[in-house]
Amino acid sequence: MKAEVACMTAASPDHKVLARAGMILKKGGLVAFPTETVYGLGGNALDPSASRKIYAAKGRPSDNPLIVHIADMKDLEGIAAAVPEKAREMADKFWPGPLTMIFPKTDRVPLETTGGLETVAVRFPSDPIAQELIRCAGGYVAAPSANTSGRPSPTTAQHVIDDLGDTIDMIIDSGPVGIGLESTIIDFSGDVPVILRPGYISPQMAGEIVPDIRIDPGLLKDGGNVRPKAPGMKYRHYAPKADLTVVEGSLQEVTLLIREKVKESIREGRTPGVIASEETFECYPEGIVRCIGSRSDEESIARHLYQVLRAFDDDGVEVIWSEAFDTPTLGQAIMNRLLKAAGHRVIYAGGQKNDSSGV
Ligand code: TXA
Ligand code: MG
Repeated sequence: MKAEVACMTAASPDHKVLARAGMILKKGGLVAFPTETVYGLGGNALDPSASRKIYAAKGRPSDNPLIVHIADMKDLEGIAAAVPEKAREMADKFWPGPLTMIFPKTDRVPLETTGGLETVAVRFPSDPIAQELIRCAGGYVAAPSANTSGRPSPTTAQHVIDDLGDTIDMIIDSGPVGIGLESTIIDFSGDVPVILRPGYISPQMAGEIVPDIRIDPGLLKDGGNVRPKAPGMKYRHYAPKADLTVVEGSLQEVTLLIREKVKESIREGRTPGVIASEETFECYPEGIVRCIGSRSDEESIARHLYQVLRAFDDDGVEVIWSEAFDTPTLGQAIMNRLLKAAGHRVIYAGGQKNDSSGV
């Protein structure tokens, strides 16, 4: 099946097309749609067979639960059996937006959607097209990122077409997304709220409402063998085809070491790629060099990360050297994705090892 691709903008959504897309979802079909974080692959969250289709289309292990997207606060009660006061405050502050919260589920949510868990992850996205589609679909849309399992999440509709264009019913194209990293996930189903996936809503921002919030030890660099609590975080996601290594240290030493490594790769007959920033782009005379964004605008780095990783796949580079991006607010979320893409392969320029920050 070739997916129908429907173009529209958030400023003027095509209501007719969205009504039709909602109907496709109601009937158990799959529609990819934009959100402010990444493109999602939508199916009716209350229909077990739609969830099974999502897993099949992505090639995703069925123990990895889906996020249920809503577009009206009233609909939360239909799927969450207990919502603590602090979670309501988080919703007041950050919904609609790039935040997912986990609650004990009601019986309406099939175990197929939650990967067999008794909890459900819920997000209320801010993208107006996503909201209208969810309403047209009956209120509950399960949507993982719309990529083939193991590939970087899609930040443009073309990424979705590349991965799923022959497998799903429809793709709604509204241009590149705004944030470019998946939502922050906070688990409110236990005694203490825990961040299971870092995202645009930083621990500091969440901590203003939930001062006792913790970070899943499985996310920390020095977390050793602790398993992340979100099933999806244990997989080597976001993997580019080339071997990726992250180089940490002072920026000057990092650029010098990457230059050396690029030379070495070329000598070995391998095609090297470099992930650089605006500030360092000119420092690399050799290799295929891609600029991820500016170090003084960390949102630009987040927005371009997946696009850069996918572009290297298309270039056929065999080895990628990336600068580290431990930026002040989004650094944790960016480095979490980058290190996973690298399979946690890190080298330290200048010999000094700084392993304290939790990612
Ligand atoms: O920004 C986003 O969250 C995007 C857009 C499309 O909304 N969606 C997304 O979904 O990133 P996905 O399926 O790629 O990632 C969902 C993550 C997985 O790591 C999964 O294991 C975790 O959420 N998750 C979902 N339900 C859970 C639950 N009940 N308990 C623990 N982790 C859960
Ligand atoms: Mg994903």
